[in-house]
Amino acid sequence: MGRLTGKVAIITGAANGMGASEAKLFAKEGAKVVATDINDNLLHEVINEIKADGGEAIGLKHNVTSEEEWKHVIQETVDHYGKVDVLVNNAGVSSPKTMAQMEMDEWNKIMDIDLNGCVIGMKYVIPEMQKAGGGSLINISSIGGLVGMAGSSPYTAAKGALRSLSKSAAVEYGKDKIRVNSVHPGIIETPMTADTFKDAEAYYKTFTQLPYFGNPEDVAYGVLFLASDESRFMTGSELVIDGGWTAL
Ligand SMILES: NC(=O)c1ccc[n+]([C@@H]2O[C@H](COP(=O)([O-])OP(=O)(O)OC[C@H]3O[C@@H](n4cnc5c(N)ncnc54)[C@H](O)[C@@H]3O)[C@@H](O)[C@H]2O)c1
Repeated sequence: MGRLTGKVAIITGAANGMGASEAKLFAKEGAKVVATDINDNLLHEVINEIKADGGEAIGLKHNVTSEEEWKHVIQETVDHYGKVDVLVNNAGVSSPKTMAQMEMDEWNKIMDIDLNGCVIGMKYVIPEMQKAGGGSLINISSIGGLVGMAGSSPYTAAKGALRSLSKSAAVEYGKDKIRVNSVHPGIIETPMTADTFKDAEAYYKTFTQLPYFGNPEDVAYGVLFLASDESRFMTGSELVIDGGWTAL
């Protein structure tokens, strides 16, 4: 029996990086996975890999900024698998601009994807979790949601809001056995951070207390714990997976 046997989980941004890793790990642990992404070509590679490994998953093209597409994803999940137990709001983008360089269009784009996309997902999935008798909502924030980061103001603002939103939702829906937690990865080696790794050793010496980077599986195992009943008494919490970046 897997750690997620019997559970139905939606994971956004699952074509790449941490989302893809979470989708594969969840399926390995027995979940029925609904993996979504705007990049459906890459997404189908992930679905094929899960199926070849004996797992159960469907892939849906999905832009998290669209309310209509969210409704479709949730309806498809219920039609296909009967319920939703877990939502991992993972899709996200970063922006390398400082405050004064940034155009407001860019601010709005980051807010739309990294914050509003998660809000819409929560709004439409909570009634399904109430019907199912509970659930686990996992919002992928960042250490940028906990501490300041130069050149990332819209990103950190969105990730900080996601952290506090998770706590409010935990307070609102605990009575329905819906748990809401945020995850705060440090620097993790994915396509999003590819440029960061050009001078890898210098970077991790500055930003982790450990002599290596995090990989997507390091985060996926934390997300798996929050999705499973092993974390049944955990809600409104922040799971920091950052190699000690914020320990100083
Ligand atoms: N990599 C890191 O170091 C790091 C650190 C802290 C937090 N995070 C957060 O973790 C999450 C995953 O990051 P990653 O590094 O795996 O990123 P990634 O770029 O490797 O993957 C992100 C995925 O999201 C998808 N996506 C982008 N915009 C979308 C949209 N509008 N709708 C649906 N899907 C969309 C992309 O197609 C891609 O498949 C993000 O929320 C990111 O902010 C990453």
